[in-house]
Amino acid sequence: MHKEKILVIGASGQIGVELTLALRKMYGAAQVVAADLREQNPLLAGTGPYVSLDVMNKEMLHVQIIRQNITQVYLLAAILSATGEKNPSLAWNLNMQGLLNVLDIAREEKLNKVFWPSSIAVFGPSSPRVNCPQQTIIEPTTIYGISKYAGEFWCHYYWQRYGVDVRSIRYPGLISYKSAPGGGTTDYAVEIYHEALAKRSYSCFLKQDTYLPMMYMPDAIRATTELMEAPADRISVRTSYNLSAMSFSPAEIAHSIQKQIPDFSIGYQPDYRQSIADSWPQSIDDSVARRDWGWKPEYDLDAMTVDMLQNLR
Ligand code: NAD
Ligand code: SER
Repeated sequence: MHKEKILVIGASGQIGVELTLALRKMYGAAQVVAADLREQNPLLAGTGPYVSLDVMNKEMLHVQIIRQNITQVYLLAAILSATGEKNPSLAWNLNMQGLLNVLDIAREEKLNKVFWPSSIAVFGPSSPRVNCPQQTIIEPTTIYGISKYAGEFWCHYYWQRYGVDVRSIRYPGLISYKSAPGGGTTDYAVEIYHEALAKRSYSCFLKQDTYLPMMYMPDAIRATTELMEAPADRISVRTSYNLSAMSFSPAEIAHSIQKQIPDFSIGYQPDYRQSIADSWPQSIDDSVARRDWGWKPEYDLDAMTVDMLQNLR
């Protein structure tokens, strides 16, 4: 059997660390090359090859892909919603050019597969708020959402025109304990666990009743590998799949934590991230992913809380 050699770009980020470790378990440590702008990552040290790489430098990226005999790329390098609003042109440049560089090289080198994540941020205020469907009105209002929506169509274009097998998921807000989140609107749902253990209190930058779609990292990693392992004829969506696990508000996650840490308290000081959150749906309909490649989440809010606190302790 032909052995896959995988390049994970953005491997030092919140998803990248856990995805790299999971892929190394599946394919073997030497078969998965971690790459990031950051020169190293203590969580990945000693687990397999790591290269420092800028996805914006297409020539160097191309050289790496040829030199390392790469057959699959997972592109995770991006600027997320909250950071993106602070520097829209930087977010647009990285999120678009990084993707185009990878898609172009994938076409030229006939790579077997590419994974590129989109986000619930593609949806905007005119999309349905509850159980937002796969296909609906999509009018994003953040630069991050605009770049993700454009990216989805670039993926579709490269698949349709050049046959590049590129697959994508619209991740909800992701919650994890290993690697810190990198500037998103849903980051509060990670910070809250750290502060609950360290200070027994948390000041939230979103209002108490702001419901958002969320997912625990083990489910997100499993979804990613399941999508990438699925036979190509099961993939009916070549833009990006809706994916869902749970939906909760800051008040509800606080209540879940209080079941484990009874003296935990939460306060609310909404900032500029409130309007980003208000532009996104509260929950997502992922029935197409369930139908096409058998997606099913495992963690709900309370199960995630128990696991997060156990691991952070
Ligand atoms: P992150 O910010 O934690 O990690 C991104 C990584 O990319 C960082 O380690 C950074 O150093 C690296 N990077 C930045 N610029 C680079 C460059 N020019 N070249 C190489 N590496 C570079 O992000 P994340 O949360 O792990 O997200 C990964 C992907 O998943 C992104 O596309 C993001 O939009 C998407 N996503 C994440 C979430 C979430 O909740 N974390 C939700 C939806 C979608
Ligand atoms: N978690 C991400 C963000 O808040 C959603 O893509 O930006």
